[in-house]
Amino acid sequence: MDASDVEGDLVDILFTEAQIKERVGELAKQIEGDYAGQELLIVGVLRGAVMVMADIARALTGHVEMDWMAVSSYGSGTKSSGVVRILKDLDTDITGRHVLIVDEIVDTGLTLSWLTANLASRSAASVEICTLLRKPDALQMQVDVKYVGWDIPNEFVVGYGLDYNERYRNLRDIGTLAPHVYSGE
Ligand code: IMP
Ligand code: MG
Repeated sequence: MDASDVEGDLVDILFTEAQIKERVGELAKQIEGDYAGQELLIVGVLRGAVMVMADIARALTGHVEMDWMAVSSYGSGTKSSGVVRILKDLDTDITGRHVLIVDEIVDTGLTLSWLTANLASRSAASVEICTLLRKPDALQMQVDVKYVGWDIPNEFVVGYGLDYNERYRNLRDIGTLAPHVYSGE
């Protein structure tokens, strides 16, 4: 395994593991208050939401079901292409269910606005969104995010599930990459 200095590729750490843990705990408290007495189905968007799903789920103290979807917006690198397709659908029938989509970041908002409409069309009782991060670009797309960890500047970030060409998802902190990573040196 190539264990070259992965953490060292970050130039700027935006959120540490401890800060993320604290914020995820706050979001979970808010969610618990809002869904008191209701059984919630949380839906993680693969693959980026794996870390935040695991942490949100464990911060919730009541019964909660978990399911996963994988969607693709065609393309790798740092830009969304705009076309969404389902790579893996839910295993759960969400008719009459309270669904909370959990994602790690809303950038253009394209993926989540499409996904929300898709799940709402399946007669869910409610469909809401929880995202750890949101970029200002999301304001250009009509997407109502009920729970946001942090709004961040329009920079490409990695770590805690967020990748650059499938790398850096395993970092515990969230940060920006050094320019040499992009230039392939
Ligand atoms: P959208 O532009 O809101 O549709 O975002 C789609 C997806 O792009 C997100 O779920 C992430 O997987 C990815 N993405 C957007 N911004 C970043 C970033 O800064 N770092 C890593 N992935 C990102
Ligand atoms: Mg994602």
